[in-house]
Amino acid sequence: MRIDVITTFPEMFAPVLGSSILKRAQEKGVAEIRVHDLRDYTADRHRTTDDAPFGGGGGMVMKPEPFFEAVEAIRGGKPTENEEIVLLCPQGEPFRQSLARELSARRRLILLCGHYEGVDERVREHLATRAVSIGDYVLTGGELPAMVVIDAVVRLLPGALGDEQGAASDSFSDNLLEYPQYTRPAEFRGWPVPEVLLSGDHARIRRWRRKESLRRTRRLRPDLLAAAELSDEDRELLEEIEQEEHRAE
Ligand code: ADE
Repeated sequence: MRIDVITTFPEMFAPVLGSSILKRAQEKGVAEIRVHDLRDYTADRHRTTDDAPFGGGGGMVMKPEPFFEAVEAIRGGKPTENEEIVLLCPQGEPFRQSLARELSARRRLILLCGHYEGVDERVREHLATRAVSIGDYVLTGGELPAMVVIDAVVRLLPGALGDEQGAASDSFSDNLLEYPQYTRPAEFRGWPVPEVLLSGDHARIRRWRRKESLRRTRRLRPDLLAAAELSDEDRELLEEIEQEEHRAE
């Protein structure tokens, strides 16, 4: 996959792209990631990327021309087949695992980082193919969100993770939060690992994990549980959980 980022703060990306799995994915040729300075696509001496909003009000708005110039220069004129141009802004669709999966199937992503009060609406309307928000909070710019999107997408690419199993059992892959994990020591500061995990009984372990996954999702993310596809066993486990909680009251 090819990923291009267009930003006024290119220096923010080096530490993240140069570490861990993102670094290895690039070294292995799984992803080719380029970061471009939006100011290189301005036409004036001051390399201006923002201007006052039409209609008045405070703050500044990012100008459309540099974004259009940058995208057209980077992709050499014509749109690439199977590309997605994503504007990162708080007014976008929510970024979820399902969208990460969808984006990971593209040949090319171009990420546009917004700033200030916002980006001229013509960028969103006529250049971006979608606008994406990473959550219901406002950050100082689209750079951290772009890094979040890159991280979530690249780790899904074949060959990015050492262990392909990893991505399949993630939280959200089936709309549930992942079960609790433990490693050695079996007892730490008086807190023991659940006995079932030491039992070697794989059927019991699988059932325990599914149950804890359901318990956690029910408590913390009822919205996810409502959308999850549940098996007969899941419904049985949820009933057990409800009875346990009833008894604990
Ligand atoms: N820019 C500022 N806040 C943002 C958010 N929550 N998601 C995406 N881009 C942003």
